[in-house]
Amino acid sequence: MKTILKSLAVIALAFSLTNCGEKKETDAMGNPTDATPEVVVETENAEDAQLALGAELFKGKGTCIACHKAAEKTVGPSMKEIATIYKEKGASIAKFINEEGEPLVDAAQYEVMKANFVITKAMTQEERDALDAYMMSFQ
Ligand code: HEC
Repeated sequence: MKTILKSLAVIALAFSLTNCGEKKETDAMGNPTDATPEVVVETENAEDAQLALGAELFKGKGTCIACHKAAEKTVGPSMKEIATIYKEKGASIAKFINEEGEPLVDAAQYEVMKANFVITKAMTQEERDALDAYMMSFQ
């Protein structure tokens, strides 16, 4: 029994010695150089993140870009025109694309736009808000 304890103590000692002996790379100041580098978190502000999401949805999943350009009318009114009118009237694009509003820009073409509500109503509120913020940034 004693020998077992003894050998355990030796093993433990050996372990602690090898651990201590493990030399860490240090720089001139003696600071360890192999320390995990601090992760620099991009502190994008919330507004930028929302606009980025809006842009992504506008061009991607939303397919909005097929009919809406920044400043010129194509199939649909330009974003500039839409944003200007929505601002003037204090209306919400997020609500409009959730079919909770009336067409304020080009009521005659509403049916063409309405077809997209299948996509936008399946989005989350956050996504609709992001599309809203993105389009409103084109005033
Ligand atoms: C197939 C073409 C097409 C696509 C794709 C499209 N739109 Fe439109 N959009 C239109 C047309 C045409 C109008 C004009 C009718 C109207 O004003 O409702 C319009 C109008 C709008 C308006 C102004 C509505 C108003 O008050 O009159 C908003 C806001 C809008 N679209 C947002 C979007 C967003 C967001 C997407 C992507 C999810 C999108 N559109 C995709 C054709 C499209």
